Amino acid sequence: GRVIVTIDGVAASGKSSVASGVARALGVPYVSSGLLYRAATLLALEAGVPLDEAPALLTHLHAHPLRLEALSAGNRVWCGKRELTDDLHSSRVDGGVSRVAALPEVRAWVDAQLRALPAPFVAEGRDMGTHVFPQADAKFYLTASPRVRAERRARERPEDVPAIEAALIERDHRDRAQSAPAPDARLIDTGTLPLDGVIGAVLAALPA
Ligand code: C5P
Repeated sequence: GRVIVTIDGVAASGKSSVASGVARALGVPYVSSGLLYRAATLLALEAGVPLDEAPALLTHLHAHPLRLEALSAGNRVWCGKRELTDDLHSSRVDGGVSRVAALPEVRAWVDAQLRALPAPFVAEGRDMGTHVFPQADAKFYLTASPRVRAERRARERPEDVPAIEAALIERDHRDRAQSAPAPDARLIDTGTLPLDGVIGAVLAALPA
């Protein structure tokens, strides 16, 4: 059927790896909502648009439309013919994205793009189960301690674990308004399970 599964959680909790694994097992695409917030942030930084100036930012985004290519193996973001994907996980984008994501106009812009995608899919982010797809067929919320998450992220960033941990805690704090588990979400602590175990737990909990 036209199933929607949502996987929300804190920063670096493993959402995209889990969403990708679940999507592959189901043979459907996964959708990384954070990439659209990251791409909006990158375009703003490049254009010198202040990160909290919603009207200027929206004007810029409408003039430079972004396209999220949602595949089960990975998501890509395009701005016209330019692929932004590899530039979206820098510490500079990490540091600014929560400010951009705090703007209601930007959230509405992201939400509209996500809601236009054809189901079935696995959607991953902060507010997929609470706000964007409250009608989802199954909802999950991933957690893990800041230290575990920082140790994972340290494999993908040049900074050391304490610096990454501090930045993750700061980002969680800024994101708290839009990052809460849906009342009907199943909580999974990814700190104590290997990736396969988390994917298996999600698949086992899906409605038949
Ligand atoms: O998931 P990821 O860490 O890549 O998301 C980057 C940022 O995008 C988050 O820190 C948050 O500020 C924002 N975000 C959001 N709502 C979502 C997904 C991401 O506010 N659904």
